Amino acid sequence: MSKQISLNIETATAIPQPSARQAIAVPVFSDEPRVSLLNQDELQRTVEQSALNGEFKGEAGTQLLLHASRSERALLLIGMGAHADFSSDELRRASGMAAREAREARVKHLVMLLPVVDDERLAVRVVAEGALLGLYENNFYQSQDEENFWVEKLTIIVSENRSELRDEIERARIVAESVNWTRHLADEPGASLPPREFARRAAEMAQEFGLKVESLDVDEIRARGMGGLWGVGQGSEEKPALIVVRYEPEGARDNDELWAFVGKGITFDTGGISLKHGLDMYEMKTDMAGGAAALGALRAIAQLKPNKRIVAIVPSAENMPSGHSIKPGDVVKTFGGYTIEVVDTDAEGRMVLVDGIAYAKSLGASRIVDLATLTGSIIVALGEHRTGLFSNDDDWANQVIEASERAGEPTWRMPVSDDYKKRIESDIADFKNYGGRPDATAAALLLSKFAQKTPWVHLDIAGTSWYDEAQPHAPKGSTGVGVRTLVELAFG
Ligand code: BES
Ligand code: MN
Ligand code: ZN
Repeated sequence: MSKQISLNIETATAIPQPSARQAIAVPVFSDEPRVSLLNQDELQRTVEQSALNGEFKGEAGTQLLLHASRSERALLLIGMGAHADFSSDELRRASGMAAREAREARVKHLVMLLPVVDDERLAVRVVAEGALLGLYENNFYQSQDEENFWVEKLTIIVSENRSELRDEIERARIVAESVNWTRHLADEPGASLPPREFARRAAEMAQEFGLKVESLDVDEIRARGMGGLWGVGQGSEEKPALIVVRYEPEGARDNDELWAFVGKGITFDTGGISLKHGLDMYEMKTDMAGGAAALGALRAIAQLKPNKRIVAIVPSAENMPSGHSIKPGDVVKTFGGYTIEVVDTDAEGRMVLVDGIAYAKSLGASRIVDLATLTGSIIVALGEHRTGLFSNDDDWANQVIEASERAGEPTWRMPVSDDYKKRIESDIADFKNYGGRPDATAAALLLSKFAQKTPWVHLDIAGTSWYDEAQPHAPKGSTGVGVRTLVELAFG
């Protein structure tokens, strides 16, 4: 798919003349009923009135559509929450919410006012990003009987029109389109995106943006002894793949530092012989969200061109029960050399990731970030608001944490230590893949044994990659988490 949201985004220093199907979005803080509407007294009165009347409280995630008297344009009040809690991420979400509401109200031209901010460039960037992210839909399998309606234009009102603002909008578009590309992959059902199709879409994207593809097929996976990836994939009719996509900046040399983004690419996770129960199993179509995020980050990086060699590595397989499946008790030999006893075939993510991490090292990666919808345990610990972050290196961890904060994708650091080693010690092999709770920590410890001394960060995105219900700024489904963090990191 290359269908992207067509939204024309510009900045202006004054509110444009009223026109039909226009709405002005006005951010309102819950503790500040007064807003400045640039000498538009009538509009200002309407907004302040509804705020002061208590009709609109300005709480985050709320909005109110009003029609200003004697004008055919609408006013859209956007709740920002308390001013003290204001962050660029709040503004990004507010913009997404405004864009979705505008589309709902059949607004063609959305004019967005900014709250008073320190950094207008950043504000323009997050508003543009938020609108493009907010307009994403995953209803691509719905028949479109009525004519499609879309918001055509977004005008962001700024104090001064500078050329850098154009660049910010361009950057926002590249990043948001890459996040939406990632979300689309993660929202695809398992049947539409088996490993070979995942690899094909990655290659199509790589070709479009001038990235190098070095993927391995099933024969190469077996020949190189990637027993974790092969073992997980062996029960499926769909063959596993190791998707490898590279970005090389201009003038890069072979001995320049190489970073690896390794993403879990389970295109559907039934649990295998340790079959999951049925209830929410359909969500396991998104078990390749980490892999899609690693590739989506490269999609943006190829266009933004940081001066850093980066490779995305996505071990991809379908975890299925069958007569060929790996069984509890089986032992696999991994690419990194260690053997792993498979205690539970549903703990498949770590088995494919260890081969991805070892492969990253064999390519000479000096720093690794892996992203994976790895454990239910991290959802219990952190819910959907923070990604679990594990690392063997404080400097690298801090770099990733700072990038995630700039990106508005918060993380929370969790421990990796041999205190937990009993959970991965096997009686018959070097390690086992499951040893009871806390599993997120045990899984991370197993991965760390393969990263060894290479600075490594593991992001467990099981909670943050998927919205269980629709949000004011997003539909139910995949969030594309990780892409923005990795892009920030590449420029860090
Ligand atoms: N893909 C799942 C983790 C997951 C669960 C992601 C829910 C998103 C939402 C992973 O492969 C898995 O099955 N984990 C099991 C491991 C356990 C059986 C050893 C888990 O966490 O329950
Ligand atoms: Mn599983
Ligand atoms: Zn899984």
